[in-house]
Amino acid sequence: MSDSIIRLFPLPSQEFPLKGLYLSHNLRENKRDSGESFVYSNYVTSLDGRIAVPHPTKAGMVVPDQITNPRDWRLFQELAVQADILITSGRYLRDYAEGRAQEILRVYDDPQFADLKDWRTERGLSPQPDMAVISGSLDFPVPPALIQGDRNIVVITTSRADPERIKALESQAGKVIIAGEGSVNGYRLVESLLEMGYRTIYNTTGPKVLHLLLAAGVLDRLYLSFVNRLLGGSPFSSIVEGEQLDPPADFVLNTIYLDPHALNGLGQLLTSYNRV
Ligand SMILES: NC(=O)c1ccc[n+]([C@@H]2O[C@H](COP(=O)([O-])OP(=O)(O)OC[C@H]3O[C@@H](n4cnc5c(N)ncnc54)[C@H](OP(=O)(O)O)[C@@H]3O)[C@@H](O)[C@H]2O)c1
Repeated sequence: MSDSIIRLFPLPSQEFPLKGLYLSHNLRENKRDSGESFVYSNYVTSLDGRIAVPHPTKAGMVVPDQITNPRDWRLFQELAVQADILITSGRYLRDYAEGRAQEILRVYDDPQFADLKDWRTERGLSPQPDMAVISGSLDFPVPPALIQGDRNIVVITTSRADPERIKALESQAGKVIIAGEGSVNGYRLVESLLEMGYRTIYNTTGPKVLHLLLAAGVLDRLYLSFVNRLLGGSPFSSIVEGEQLDPPADFVLNTIYLDPHALNGLGQLLTSYNRV
């Protein structure tokens, strides 16, 4: 893997190795002194805004093969390794149970990420970040592989959830938090996680959960990798779906890097934005 990434912003422009690029963003340092949460999210997208398209043979959506790439995946891992907790969804656990989704942080089963395992150990962090599962339906199994070891799972749901299902999940998975009436509220979600001691929070889910984070004004940083490719087609998922945001969610540019080596030289832009 050729390593060279070119920083285009902030100036001056400079070359960096890919490995370590997002570790150098030191996410755990953000708002450290105030003790507030730092919530971030990351998407790989086509230039025409597609982050997911229909699965070719099954129901549901998947990230298009045409935009996934190992260089973006490395950076995703660097973001995940810095978290106290990863936000996932009922959809992820359903896909995981069906064998359609993989472990999010791959530092234990993929030798190319062994350095990231050391990164957590050296900082006295638990081997894996804990996991927050957002779900209204609570219609998912808890895969045994996900609750092995000392990882904690917290389920975040609404007051409309089935009480019997909540009891079952409490005995199987751990804590179940009610953070909204008809829908999980982003502010209550992050407040509950902070009360449990989770400060550095990585959202790995799709457009509906991003919407609830944006609507509550709790997303601090957005990472977007723009693969230099357009896909067309419908239906598709974009990074955010739901009612129009009022007020709009304003972000300012934090960094842009050109990765000229992704997808056999096609390239991608790696960007990040901070909430205003
Ligand atoms: N390209 C990328 O970088 C990228 C990144 C992330 C995801 N994706 C793709 O995007 C697609 C959709 O992602 P996704 O399913 O993870 O995310 P999502 O559309 O944000 O939401 C998924 C699940 O979260 C729960 N949920 C969402 N909003 C809720 C609310 N307000 N209250 C309560 N529960 C809520 C629901 O679970 P229940 O159904 O259990 O109630 C819902 O099924 C997937 O194909 C995924 O692979 C792509």
